[in-house]
Amino acid sequence: MIRALSGLLWLDAASQTAACTVFAVGKMATKDGSVLISHSDDGSPTNDARLLYVPAADHSPDEKRPIYYTPELFPRYLGYHMGPDYRPDADTKAYNLSDPIGYIEQVPHTFGYQSGTYGVLNEHGVSVAESTCSAVFGTCGKGSTVGCEPGRKVGSALMSIDTLSYLAMERTRTSREAVELMGSLASKYGFYGPPDSFEGSGESLVVGDPDEAWAFQILSDPTGTSAIWAAKRLPDDQMTVVANMYTIREVKANDKENYILSPNIFEVAKSKGWWKEGTAFDFTLMYSGGEYAHKYYSGRRMWRGLQMAKPSLALPTTYEDIRYKPVYPWSVVPDAKVSHHDLMAWHRDWYAGTEFDMTKGIQAGPFGTPDRYQTVSSKVKGHWERSIALYRTNAVYVQQLHHPGEGRPQGMASVAWYAAGPPHYAAFVPIPSGVNETIHALQFANPKKFENYSMNWLVRRVMDVCQIRFDVMHNYVYSAQQAVEMQADALIEKVRQAGTTSPAELNKIFQEHASQVLQKWKELMPFLLFRFSGNTDIETMQSLSYPDAWLDASGYKDGPPDAPKEDRCPPNCDPPASAAEVVV
Ligand SMILES: *[C@@H]1O[C@H](CO)[C@@H](O)[C@H](O)[C@H]1NC(C)=O
Ligand SMILES: *[C@@H]1O[C@H](CO)[C@@H](O)[C@H](O)[C@H]1NC(C)=O
Ligand SMILES: *[C@@H]1O[C@H](CO)[C@@H](O)[C@H](O)[C@H]1NC(C)=O
Repeated sequence: MIRALSGLLWLDAASQTAACTVFAVGKMATKDGSVLISHSDDGSPTNDARLLYVPAADHSPDEKRPIYYTPELFPRYLGYHMGPDYRPDADTKAYNLSDPIGYIEQVPHTFGYQSGTYGVLNEHGVSVAESTCSAVFGTCGKGSTVGCEPGRKVGSALMSIDTLSYLAMERTRTSREAVELMGSLASKYGFYGPPDSFEGSGESLVVGDPDEAWAFQILSDPTGTSAIWAAKRLPDDQMTVVANMYTIREVKANDKENYILSPNIFEVAKSKGWWKEGTAFDFTLMYSGGEYAHKYYSGRRMWRGLQMAKPSLALPTTYEDIRYKPVYPWSVVPDAKVSHHDLMAWHRDWYAGTEFDMTKGIQAGPFGTPDRYQTVSSKVKGHWERSIALYRTNAVYVQQLHHPGEGRPQGMASVAWYAAGPPHYAAFVPIPSGVNETIHALQFANPKKFENYSMNWLVRRVMDVCQIRFDVMHNYVYSAQQAVEMQADALIEKVRQAGTTSPAELNKIFQEHASQVLQKWKELMPFLLFRFSGNTDIETMQSLSYPDAWLDASGYKDGPPDAPKEDRCPPNCDPPASAAEVVV
């Protein structure tokens, strides 16, 4: 996800680009043998945080698949081609219907899937996670003039990463098929990056299924009409992280088991004089634009992700330039088997317990908030540390991908866990692949209207209230998250044991669960406001004051001096002689 820009904002905002963090863990490295992939969709309030179900459909032989422009604004698509929940409703009727920018061949049958800005999970357990990356080439979408490369007035590329991920959901049963499909469509029809920033003109997906996960990294070609891409298979016993910079280094054309490459990948670099035949081919060195926003914007999260999975491996925290001199491995074997709860925790990370802990220091304010807002409108220039957890995250999903069988009925084997907002303030709710409708609590996220039935808005309220007194309030959020996610585990176990497979029943069960979580989150915000009203712990009626370190740093000691000592006359006067006599 990348922040959408308009008009004058473009220059400043380009250096503030949004971005996302992605993890993938192979099936031999997880506790339950699932493939785990995850994605924090880090955007802005202009983006679309809804999770909507796109039903399976049959198509007649003469039907074409319309392709839409994807500016990643709310509503991301509006029309009649993606099921009932993308049709105009009370929230979207003021917007124009999406216009196709082109058409491709349709297939006889498309699969049902849950969709965010990208595909999330289809009925076969194919799933993607996205992170925008810098790239040396970029172009604009077909018919668009926004973000075109020098020398081009209007775009000709048809495929965005959003569209490619939807097509993968609609058409594929495995991650390898998904990579091959997306790659070939991008090569044939042209690929354009996020339409707002020439900086982050490349893209990456991690694509998973119950057997394996692939990293897929792509950019437009120098003609703006095709694409350059590489896909690398994650070893089953390893995990990897992507944080707004390509990670695929050496690619091996002959190793078809582990690499799938665009036909032009070597030729373009060779023709530019970047690469010589017979030498190793480093995809990131050739095609990445390095880190954007600031140094460590990507590398710090790569470091942290790898360290959380493998604390026994000492990795450096500093480097020169990771495009030219990589210091982090592409993937690691985790020290311990990883669960879906670990991925949820990784997405909630703010470098706690490290030298970069964002709840520490004066930047964290008096009450230790890990959140750092954008500074686009400030005259002071600088950079905040970038943690994996982020206040402007639209949604996070952790997909737990497993084959049916062994106590996992069809439809209950693969689960998308969805947090409808910044993960440190949201709870993950489970949506098994057998659910074939939109979860109501996740269906609404109107950026311009508070809705008490929108999980996204309730999560944002909890976040905003936590800024009042993060250090004491967030503990309650944490407890609520743990309780809700444990209940969800128990619910899944129960449904699996009951052998429930009917979509109607699964819909009902998981709608109800999400509604209960919504209700909890609705109560959480007023509870926090009440519990710590006026910086007082209402249970004990003790004022909570401020941390000493912050008082020290704040200039508190240089405030008004102590009150003058009242030791003069009156009242300390020599009593008159006559009065003294009276007292005695
Ligand atoms: C959900 O599945 C049921 C049972 O297969 C089917 O009747 C129904 O049409 C499906 N709904 C959608 C929206 O695909
Ligand atoms: C809808 O399209 C018209 C014509 O292109 C344009 O003038 C108008 O601003 C659009 N409305 C919205 C809400 O985008
Ligand atoms: C939202 O608020 C309205 C009006 O206050 C109320 O009638 C409705 O029950 C609320 N909905 C939910 C889901 O809490």
